[in-house]
Amino acid sequence: MTLHSILIIGCGSIGERHLRCFKATGRCSVSACDQNPALLAAMQERYSVPVFESLDAALAESHFDAAVICTPAHVHLPIALTLLGKEMHVFIEKPLAIDTALVPQVREAIQQARRFVAVAYVYHLMPWLLEARNFLGSGELGKILHVSSTSGQHFPSFRPAYRDIYYARHELGGGAIQDALTHIVNAVEWLIGPCTSLFCDAAHQSLEGVTVEDTVNVTARHGDVLASYAMTQFQAPNENTLLINGEHGSLKVEGHHQRWGVLLHGDKDWSWHATAPLERDDLFIAQANAFVDGMDGKSTPLCCFEEAVRTLKFNAAALLSAHTQQRITIE
Ligand SMILES: NC(=O)c1ccc[n+]([C@@H]2O[C@H](COP(=O)([O-])OP(=O)(O)OC[C@H]3O[C@@H](n4cnc5c(N)ncnc54)[C@H](O)[C@@H]3O)[C@@H](O)[C@H]2O)c1
Repeated sequence: MTLHSILIIGCGSIGERHLRCFKATGRCSVSACDQNPALLAAMQERYSVPVFESLDAALAESHFDAAVICTPAHVHLPIALTLLGKEMHVFIEKPLAIDTALVPQVREAIQQARRFVAVAYVYHLMPWLLEARNFLGSGELGKILHVSSTSGQHFPSFRPAYRDIYYARHELGGGAIQDALTHIVNAVEWLIGPCTSLFCDAAHQSLEGVTVEDTVNVTARHGDVLASYAMTQFQAPNENTLLINGEHGSLKVEGHHQRWGVLLHGDKDWSWHATAPLERDDLFIAQANAFVDGMDGKSTPLCCFEEAVRTLKFNAAALLSAHTQQRITIE
């Protein structure tokens, strides 16, 4: 079997995970680059992979079939343009960017390069969400009328370095809206269609050492579906619940229990469908395999470029609404 050569760009928290998980597919030879020499040395020692001190050095010294962009979001699209110019397949971490300025140029470059491009919204690989999406596709709930999402975690426990990374600054992709809520919104858009307008109330309520919002309430419309999103990043439970109400009943997804369920009008109780417990790397290995499938021309559940553009528009509209306290329409 010919191995696909993959370059990991940025070896921080998620870059190291992608490095490990692409390696674990057994379908790739993996290299890494980062501008932090100490981090690079650690990658070389831990995973015995070729490393490069910059993207330019990597591209000058070697050939890669694809790259995974794991830098902070403000440089995702400039790097994507460089890679597409080399006719490489590109996997971009979420959020796609911090604004839509380069979107038309990247769209054009994708058409020219004719390579596989996807965005790493990893919820697309969660079996309980995939199954819930298939169930929604069956039409059994009838017309979808309302969605509510409640989610959060104690972010300092999961990312103790949050003050010192991109999270602390909006212009690097930080804050709850761009960093955390974006996963949920992208999943909801994948399930029921794009958000078309929203009002966002957001504030910094608790996290020490930063001023970006850690708490968000959004009331939104996805076409004629009404939706609400509530998230905090200081709460004790690490939980995420999505309730979708249709004409004939409701569907609930509980990410923290890795399960989804249905309660139709007239039913006495929920019918649950649970997935066997997964380790966090399992989803990322599945995601890496899906990306390699995409490179091989197969269909995948991964988030495509245009879906990520829609979620990027949500992020921008939510930040604008929080700032202006106005309802924002999304084109
Ligand atoms: N899908 C997920 O679950 C998930 C989880 C965490 C982070 N992310 C996303 O991944 C991205 C990175 O997050 P992180 O937590 O790994 O950040 P991080 O700060 O831990 O790591 C980023 C790394 O990129 C390197 N870097 C920056 N610019 C570079 C460049 N031009 N060339 C090479 N290296 C460069 C930095 O030196 C750093 O090591 C963000 O967009 C974030 O939103 C996604």
